[in-house]
Amino acid sequence: MEYSERQLERAQSISDLRLLARRRLPKAVFDFIDGGAADERTLRGNEAAFDDWFLVPRVAVNVSNRSLEHRFLGAASAMPIMLSPTGLAGFFRRNGEVLAAQAAARSGLPFCLSTNSIASIEEVARAVPDGDRWFQLYFLRDREWMDGLLRRAADAHYRVLCLTVDLPLTGKRERDVRNGFTLPLRPTLTSVFDMACRPGWLLDAMKSPPKFGNFEMASSGSFTSVAQHVASLFDPSANWDDVARIRERWKGPLVIKGILHPADAAKAVELGAEAVMVSNHGGRQLDHSPPALTALPEIAQAIAGRAEIILDGGVRRGTDVLKAIALGATACASGRSFLWGLSAGGEAGVRRAVEIFRQEMDNAMALLGTPNIAGITRDHVRRCSSF
Ligand SMILES: Cc1cc2nc3c(=O)[nH]c(=O)nc-3n(C[C@H](O)[C@H](O)[C@H](O)COP(=O)(O)O)c2cc1C
Repeated sequence: MEYSERQLERAQSISDLRLLARRRLPKAVFDFIDGGAADERTLRGNEAAFDDWFLVPRVAVNVSNRSLEHRFLGAASAMPIMLSPTGLAGFFRRNGEVLAAQAAARSGLPFCLSTNSIASIEEVARAVPDGDRWFQLYFLRDREWMDGLLRRAADAHYRVLCLTVDLPLTGKRERDVRNGFTLPLRPTLTSVFDMACRPGWLLDAMKSPPKFGNFEMASSGSFTSVAQHVASLFDPSANWDDVARIRERWKGPLVIKGILHPADAAKAVELGAEAVMVSNHGGRQLDHSPPALTALPEIAQAIAGRAEIILDGGVRRGTDVLKAIALGATACASGRSFLWGLSAGGEAGVRRAVEIFRQEMDNAMALLGTPNIAGITRDHVRRCSSF
């Protein structure tokens, strides 16, 4: 199944795009994107945390000229939102990383490429030379390979490095186990039948067999054996000394992703990070860790303006972005919102997700009485319990 631009335009919200993605993808693939760890308490909490806050409008403000433009980490962005790094995007939609990066560049938003991408660092850079490209790095046991990835990202002019620190190993993702979407793959009769019933996805996937673009050294063997090898490369012994080592090697802006404790945020800033990403990996790592928005105010207090803060997790509405900014974030990031758009409609689907955020933010800012992002303050939000 492929959706026309008109069908994509009928999607009024990010959750509408999710439903379109659900119809196009096999269940195991949809669940891999959609799911979280264990009971998915943190996954649900990420979205629900936004319901704990009200936006309090100020009236009789001239909002006839509005702007969503914003600067973060030294570059202009059309809106204070970016595409979080997501592995395997090219598996959900052929050429997925390039399509998402193109959509981001056309929309004037930063795009962050995952270490675990299907397209390589260089392929994305060649296809999208002008976008604001960031590269996300995991700690790898093979430090030479890790340094090589850093060099490749710098040589290919990625502007920002995003170092993910919340994955010493993978969280307990039970949907994937039940669906046989594990390493090695354990397809069930149901999952094979389900894939056959999703010809749009299947034919697209068959046109270019998946690979791990940044791990050419692991390119022999089946995709699952390579995937197993790549998973075994993550280094659970990594610590702050390793963060300091990366800081020395990367000359551009550095973001530390996966921070939930104010002391860790302060440590990242002490070591010279220009930003922290307040994130629980979209509820995919430690279940029962705090929803990202809940962790934000304390972290904003600990950082006290010394670095920028990107809020990542559960952002589905323009109003979510405004609430996060009111509570101390410089900007937001989202993984699934854009992956659902990508899965449903490729580049046009990602652009539809961006447009939904743009319209919702513009509308909400007018109604909130704040014509620009800089005008959003802590005074625009109240905790529900205080009403
Ligand atoms: C399918 C999928 C793959 C992901 N892969 C990565 C990754 O390779 N590196 C990383 O730092 N985070 C990864 N994440 C986490 C996202 O960067 C981001 O933290 C998360 O999606 C934010 O939550 P949201 O999806 O509710 O917006 C992934 C998330 C999803 C859904």
